[in-house]
Amino acid sequence: MKLLVTGVAGFIGAKVAETALDKGYVVVGVDDLSQGYASNVPKGCDFINGNLIDPNFVDNLPKDCEVILHLAGQSSGEVSFDNPVLDLEKNTISTLNLIKYGISNKVKKIVYASSMSVYGATEDRPIEESYACTPLSCYGVGKLSAESYLRIYQDQLSHTIFRMFNVYGPGQDMSNLRQGMVSIYLAHIIKTKHVPVKGGVTRFRDFIYIDDVVNIWLQSIENNDFNNKCFNLGTGVKTTVLELLTKIQVVLPDFTWEEVQSTLGDQFGIYADTKKIKNLLVNYSFTSLDVGLLKFVECLQKNQNL
Ligand SMILES: NC(=O)c1ccc[n+]([C@@H]2O[C@H](COP(=O)([O-])OP(=O)(O)OC[C@H]3O[C@@H](n4cnc5c(N)ncnc54)[C@H](O)[C@@H]3O)[C@@H](O)[C@H]2O)c1
Repeated sequence: MKLLVTGVAGFIGAKVAETALDKGYVVVGVDDLSQGYASNVPKGCDFINGNLIDPNFVDNLPKDCEVILHLAGQSSGEVSFDNPVLDLEKNTISTLNLIKYGISNKVKKIVYASSMSVYGATEDRPIEESYACTPLSCYGVGKLSAESYLRIYQDQLSHTIFRMFNVYGPGQDMSNLRQGMVSIYLAHIIKTKHVPVKGGVTRFRDFIYIDDVVNIWLQSIENNDFNNKCFNLGTGVKTTVLELLTKIQVVLPDFTWEEVQSTLGDQFGIYADTKKIKNLLVNYSFTSLDVGLLKFVECLQKNQNL
């Protein structure tokens, strides 16, 4: 089966494409390299450099791809406020262009990288997929509207929506200090041994290791039980920022931190209700944050980032 993987030069797209290739899929990968790196594109992938905002570019992509794994996009809530129009183009217009491509070429399914940001401010309890969505960032608005377009066209093109929580692990862009809480903290520790924590340490999140995300994306490709549904992709474990810092200290003991002004549109706290996704995963256990952090730091040490 031939897959179209967008955002193939980015953190998650590169790992999804690499694993798909290992499993024997043929992969056409697209990225405009605005945020990702050509060096991330896995060997064996047929790479096309281009911008999914451009409908002509999308129309001219190979027409025989059977499933689209759509991971390209502007991935930072903070950055979305710099240029909301560009964020809308990257996260929503590009998705609409791919929906049109999918319908024209009789694609079986599009799998979409949405985000926990669609929920906005939530209560302090596991958040289920039916929870009211009131995004706080332009990023969240764009992701929610892309989801809505997928639903509008679902009779012509099946979809799966994954609302991903905080994904972390090897391959995160350590030079990007505006996206990815775990990688941002580790990058500060590596550079200065001091972490400016944007917002308070009582905030809380749900951290999911990259291998779990990739595994579940791959399962969705050929399993129709995922079709026309939306799933939280988190672990269901609530972790405060203070607990995260404490866990990082176990693997990298020598650093200090201080609270600084929070980011515009930041959610105070959120973690996933995982019942819906766990119904489709047989006996699945997520990587714990302790193990995931250890693996991430070991990988940084091996690659001499540390
Ligand atoms: N990392 C997370 O924790 C997380 C959480 C929720 C959702 N997501 C979403 O998952 C997707 C992948 O996230 P990531 O962490 O790998 O981000 P990333 O920034 O590493 O990867 C995104 C890739 O998309 C490419 N891209 C952006 N606009 C494009 C365009 N118009 N045309 C072609 N390529 C374009 C970038 O160059 C980059 O390589 C994103 O859509 C992001 O919003 C990520």
